[in-house]
Amino acid sequence: MSPPHLSRFEPPNPDDLGGIYANVNGAPVPNPSAYQRIGPSGPVLLQDTHLIELLSHFNRERIPERTVHSKGSGAHGVFRCSKSISDISMAKIFGTVGKECPLTVRFSTVGGEAGSSDLARSPRGFSIKLKTEEGNLDWVFLNSPVFFIRDPPKFVYINHVTKRDPMTNLTIDDDSTMLWDFFGQNPETNHQVVHLFGDRGIPQGWRHMNGYSCHTYKFYTADGRWRYVQIHMKSKQGVKTFTSQEAASLSPDWAQNDLFQAISRGDFPKWEIGYQSMTQEEALSSGINVFDMTKTWPHAKYPITWFGEMELNKNATNYFAEVEQAAFAPSNLISGWAPSADPVLQARLFGYPDAARYRLGVNWQQIPVNRPMVPYGFDNFHRDGAGVMDDQGARPNYPGDVAPLTYAAPPADFSKIYSDYTGSAVNAISTVTSDDFKEARNLYRNIMQPDARERLVNNVASSMKKVRKREQEKVWTKAMAVWKQVDDELAQKILKQLA
Ligand code: HEM
Repeated sequence: MSPPHLSRFEPPNPDDLGGIYANVNGAPVPNPSAYQRIGPSGPVLLQDTHLIELLSHFNRERIPERTVHSKGSGAHGVFRCSKSISDISMAKIFGTVGKECPLTVRFSTVGGEAGSSDLARSPRGFSIKLKTEEGNLDWVFLNSPVFFIRDPPKFVYINHVTKRDPMTNLTIDDDSTMLWDFFGQNPETNHQVVHLFGDRGIPQGWRHMNGYSCHTYKFYTADGRWRYVQIHMKSKQGVKTFTSQEAASLSPDWAQNDLFQAISRGDFPKWEIGYQSMTQEEALSSGINVFDMTKTWPHAKYPITWFGEMELNKNATNYFAEVEQAAFAPSNLISGWAPSADPVLQARLFGYPDAARYRLGVNWQQIPVNRPMVPYGFDNFHRDGAGVMDDQGARPNYPGDVAPLTYAAPPADFSKIYSDYTGSAVNAISTVTSDDFKEARNLYRNIMQPDARERLVNNVASSMKKVRKREQEKVWTKAMAVWKQVDDELAQKILKQLA
């Protein structure tokens, strides 16, 4: 396959936008608004291919919006390595200071529909497709260091409860019954809920937020040495947020416009990229479950090593082609970077490519914005399916001697890299202990200023008031039991507002 050139995403030359108007078979059509009919008052003809193509293509302009993270914005840019980390990862892109690769980013809110506000109170998606010389590495991150849940089936439920209620068909802005019911039933969500209803719940657009892998990944070297890592992306623009009132008074496309305008005027947003790391031994003695994404790793004990920078310097020329058709998958990995056993991450390795196959078709990685940009030709035994662009010509579609492919050597000894997996199959589900409330309590008591604490209480109470009257007593009782475990004073303040 020939790698597509970046110029695919150069803004079009305004003098170059014209062409000969034609049907999709290339046959010129004299008038785009004319149609064929019998005389000035007769019926329209089925032979009018131009009109039929126009109507039928229009009917197929929409593809399914993402089930989650439907509202978003994207841009293109570059990754630059600022510190070699070749001692712990064999990925070439991170091995030499100054090495660069092109990338595409998509920021998003989570629960809202494609037309909803990009200033909603919601976690923010922070997806990056790094087109490295060794293949695509997708980072599908968030703007908070933790996630609501740590048992993969609950992903579906936490997302269902932020969607429209099946009966009232209202969003959580008007009917929050399901949201607070879920919170009461699943107390491990408390840490992310405090983030969400606190000041960082509404970032001031996409440029003023940090990014976090949330999950633990593994870095590894060619000789099979590996470490657990978590990735951090720090906004060089600084973190800024809106209050609920400010956000409500602004356009639902405020963040889209802010990013587009900034890039257009050459004010390119940048993020520093770093990792925290632990060896397996450190992880075992740390008292931290590195596979529990409701928790963070203390920075004092596990400091961040900064190794790269991301700069966004190019707007999409065509939003649909370059952002809506962009699809990110945590399963897109390169040598030197492996998944950990975090069960939520493991589920995601399946979830995203499956979503892309449904949303964009089986050949989604051949769409220009998703195509790898490796310097070598590459082939495989996938064939056909809707929308093939790289048909692989006459190459036989099985491993054989007719036209043998070249097989790379294994990058490292995987029996070493996955040596931390032991045991036999169990039906797993996590239990909630007092440990699960510590981080949110610390956030509330020691990190938030008094005015931020007050805004948290107001935001929580005004959302909890949107629980349907009939359900209020039972939903509030369970939710308040969780708040009490986070912090009694916080619970009392919320309760006072609900009274
Ligand atoms: C079991 C857990 C999860 C599953 C099954 C899951 C699944 C999905 C699916 C199906 C999409 C839509 C993809 C598309 O249509 O192209 C999506 C979007 C997204 N998810 Fe998750 N997700 C999970 C947890 C998480 C977590 C923990 C994070 C972050 C750490 C995350 C970050 C994102 C982001 C950033 C997007 C937007 C991608 C884009 O911009 O296209 N998700 N998720």
